[in-house]
Amino acid sequence: MSKMKNSTEETLTEFLDYLKEGLIVIDEEKNIEYMNRYAKELLNVEAPEGKRFSDVLKNNYLFSLISADINKELKEEIVINDDIFLARVLNINGKRVIHFQDITPFELYKQAKKDFVSNVSHELKTPITVLKGVVETVEKEEDINVIKDFLKKAKKRIQQMDSLINDLLILAKLESKEEKIQKKKIKLKALINQTFEDLQHIASEKNITLKNNISSNFTVPVDEKKFSILLKNLIENAIKYNKQNGIVEINVKKSENYAEISVVDTGIGIPKDSLPLIFERFYRVDKSRSRNVGGTGLGLSIVKHITEAHNGKVEVKSEVGKGSEFIVKIPLE
Ligand SMILES: Nc1ncnc2c1ncn2[C@@H]1O[C@H](COP(=O)(O)OP(=O)(O)OP(=O)(O)O)[C@@H](O)[C@H]1O
Ligand SMILES: [Mg+2]
Repeated sequence: MSKMKNSTEETLTEFLDYLKEGLIVIDEEKNIEYMNRYAKELLNVEAPEGKRFSDVLKNNYLFSLISADINKELKEEIVINDDIFLARVLNINGKRVIHFQDITPFELYKQAKKDFVSNVSHELKTPITVLKGVVETVEKEEDINVIKDFLKKAKKRIQQMDSLINDLLILAKLESKEEKIQKKKIKLKALINQTFEDLQHIASEKNITLKNNISSNFTVPVDEKKFSILLKNLIENAIKYNKQNGIVEINVKKSENYAEISVVDTGIGIPKDSLPLIFERFYRVDKSRSRNVGGTGLGLSIVKHITEAHNGKVEVKSEVGKGSEFIVKIPLE
């Protein structure tokens, strides 16, 4: 019987060491009776058993949990090494048992979800407010020229909402990994020429020259539909954030097993401190400027997703006032 008890205890101790949650038991004299492996590693202590808890545990939150006057149970969020933990403290036969679990990923997820919903609502609110105004004005207006003018405004806002919804759907599909990447050898030059054609109207507005420097037989193994979305976003940015009479140039080179496709522009450039942020959803360097050109800040996060879905990488180099270069590295295998 006692042999069996021993083996159960051993199994339990092993199990507690296997947990990715912390467990600490403090005895009536406020000495540490037990800590599982996770707790020891997280709090960076070795052989704490029998020592006074205040000599071993230097974390203020744990300190106050252990010292707290509780009857039965206490539940609190605490911080250990900059991460958020949910801690439960129990009084069992005069001993204090502390259990804690890292909830940082959950908290970050909750925050990201909250930010996402508020960003989308905000982006939809502006065009809807404009549309409401347009409808109210057109209802009362009789001059056909004024009506036409207002409808033009409405059309622009509808296009904005349409492109936001499209981008959100693309992102949602990419994130759910619902659609598999279907790689085929694609002639890059032709795909870029097609994109140039689609964007020619916005390039012409600023008299921007589009240069496709890729040789006609160069191929890349990509998902044609997704890669054309990636190219469209990069080239559209290179045009939108360019100066009057600017240039957009596409080059490619092979390095090791990668094709490095670069989109270079002679535009306004991106400040250094914004560079790490531009691939984040909804991030825009200058919100008011971006709104004028109709952006919502989703384009580059789509570019990053598509590149990563191809096991590739995307990099950016930029100098304010001179221009930017976006380099997409796609494995050739
Ligand atoms: N080639 C570029 N030159 C200068 N700034 C750029 C360039 N590309 C992107 N940016 C900056 O990075 C921000 C994020 O780009 P992104 O393409 O994600 O969003 P957007 O162009 O504002 O909107 P969307 O692409 O969703 O219509 C832009 O708002 C802009 O400030
Ligand atoms: Mg963009």
